Amino acid sequence: MTKTNANEADDIMCECSGTTRGKIQILFKQGMDMDAISRWAGAVSGCGGCEWDIAEYLNTLTEQKNKSV
Ligand code: FES
Repeated sequence: MTKTNANEADDIMCECSGTTRGKIQILFKQGMDMDAISRWAGAVSGCGGCEWDIAEYLNTLTEQKNKSV
């Protein structure tokens, strides 16, 4: 389950690894995909329950990136 904080960047997206939304955003901007983020931050390498939420978030970031090009 994703917690909602006042600062969205502090939202924990992966409870198993403690990976925050902000961390995923930074890694995405460095060019990492889901596999790389998983290896680097440990996200999606535990119970896997966060996979859908993180995939959705990466899709959103990709759409935002494509719009700004
Ligand atoms: S919540 Fe991300 S692997 Fe368990």
